[in-house]
Amino acid sequence: MSHHSTQSDETQIEEGASPLNLPADPSRRRWVATTCALGGVAGVATAVPYALSLSPSARAEAAGAPVEVDISGLEPSKQMTAEWRGQPIFIVHRTPAEIEDLAKHDGELADPLSKNAEYTPYTWAQNVWRSRKKEIFICIGICTHLGCVPTPRFKVGAQENLPNDWPGGWLCPCHGSTYDLAARVYKNKPAPANLPIPPYAFSPDGKRVIIGLEEYPASKA
Ligand code: FES
Repeated sequence: MSHHSTQSDETQIEEGASPLNLPADPSRRRWVATTCALGGVAGVATAVPYALSLSPSARAEAAGAPVEVDISGLEPSKQMTAEWRGQPIFIVHRTPAEIEDLAKHDGELADPLSKNAEYTPYTWAQNVWRSRKKEIFICIGICTHLGCVPTPRFKVGAQENLPNDWPGGWLCPCHGSTYDLAARVYKNKPAPANLPIPPYAFSPDGKRVIIGLEEYPASKA
């Protein structure tokens, strides 16, 4: 299994949802709807449902099965995006400096310790780092305002549409909500909550992560 994601693929999966009776996931539907809105007519004229061309294992993934991702090549300060349950999953390799900076702006955040269990249901993530390993951060990349996909803005400092003391994070292009590198939302923004944390587990060698399970399967280790 490998990660796979393009915006056009997501749109096409939605086209194929009915024939396969995929579960109606509200957050997924919001995401697809937003993609369509931003992309104009994208997906409207798809002739062959994408889902029908998927292999059985890929169909299982689309319906919610766990997805395993090789993260061994993920470089510091870079993001890769996987897909799980039709949602974009952001995976970021944080540097020691980025990790250290996280604790410095708690006062500017709406929920710095991720007390809102609806979005952060795991106790290991209810803290400043929101991750199982501080250097690898993983979240669901769907804005908690109206479901757009936030854009990575990892460059530190003054730049367009961001404050002068920007420490790196994400900017939602739709209505300007900002999130830090633990995907914690800033105060006084349209988005009410931090980006959600999915269940995940690392392989024993740390080179892969499985999204959708809280423990790495012993049979695969
Ligand atoms: S959808 Fe992200 S700010 Fe509105």
